[in-house]
Amino acid sequence: MRVGVLTGGGDCPGLNAVIRAVVRKGVPEYGYSFLGFRDGWRGPLEALTKPLDIPAVRGLLPRGGTILGSSRTNPFALEGGVEKIRRNLQNLGVDALIAIGGEDTLGVATKLHEMGVNVVGVPKTIDNDLSGTDYTFGFDTAVNIATEAIDRLHTTAESHHRALIVEVMGRHAGWIALHSGMAGGANAILIPEIRFDIEQVCKWVESRFQLDYAPIIVVSEGAKPKDGDEVLRTGEKDAFGHVRLGGIGDYLAREIEARTGKEARTTVLGHVQRGGTPTARDRWLATRFGLHAIDAVHDGKWGMMTALRGTEIELVPLSEATKELKLVDPALYAEAEVFFG
Ligand code: F6P
Repeated sequence: MRVGVLTGGGDCPGLNAVIRAVVRKGVPEYGYSFLGFRDGWRGPLEALTKPLDIPAVRGLLPRGGTILGSSRTNPFALEGGVEKIRRNLQNLGVDALIAIGGEDTLGVATKLHEMGVNVVGVPKTIDNDLSGTDYTFGFDTAVNIATEAIDRLHTTAESHHRALIVEVMGRHAGWIALHSGMAGGANAILIPEIRFDIEQVCKWVESRFQLDYAPIIVVSEGAKPKDGDEVLRTGEKDAFGHVRLGGIGDYLAREIEARTGKEARTTVLGHVQRGGTPTARDRWLATRFGLHAIDAVHDGKWGMMTALRGTEIELVPLSEATKELKLVDPALYAEAEVFFG
């Protein structure tokens, strides 16, 4: 059996650990050979390949990014895309595919499976917002990077008696903000799931200053104020056609300064959260996903993806990961509110 492997969507620490585990188990235990596809679905679409064998996966555990490259190419958005993929898989002698990706990549995998392609999925995203699995790898690394940033910002905020705002990733879900904000002792955590009241945020800022502390506010990039989207210019497209969310961090700094008279600064962590070496926990989870994905191929569990349920790795239908986003539960958010202000 020849197994193709691809990584699609935004990259994420731990992708290489999955690739390594799949190959390190698949070659000796099942006698499989592997073919890497470059840049997500663009690989099978344009027959862009990379050799994948045991020497090729040496030294990958601490390496961030993906040795296969990634893209957000969607073959269903291109005329004849699916037929091209089928033809290329056949010409290259690829019998099965392991697709490692988030909502979009696994959405394509789901449809290809329904059309008879042998696909197994592995979920990934730093946002941790995929349904079907308790956690995705990449999330722990992002949370640790954000937490370290918050720790560092506390000291400079204190020195200058400023409010410091940390904008973290998360367009639709506030998992990174919630976890790093709790771990870093934030005085407010603002997430996309719950619209915030800017007056309330300013009250928290003021009460913190009254105790002679400098407040730290952690905000997800997708968080929105109660009084409307227009302040964020949500929906504007940049030169590449990506919808901009506008700078929520900048908005907060502006409003806090205007309403409280206190100085405020914003740090946007951006892609730092996605780059570099994965944490031990992410390497462990990614490795386990890889081992179970190659077992799923061996067992012919097409249309399934690996998932962490409690401490067990299970297989769930790919469609479960893509049907709806996993958002922060208001009850969980309420636990963090104890520390606000
Ligand atoms: O989905 C992962 C993610 O990092 C989001 O948190 C973020 O909004 C988005 O990708 C950024 O995408 P890009 O790298 O394409 O700008």
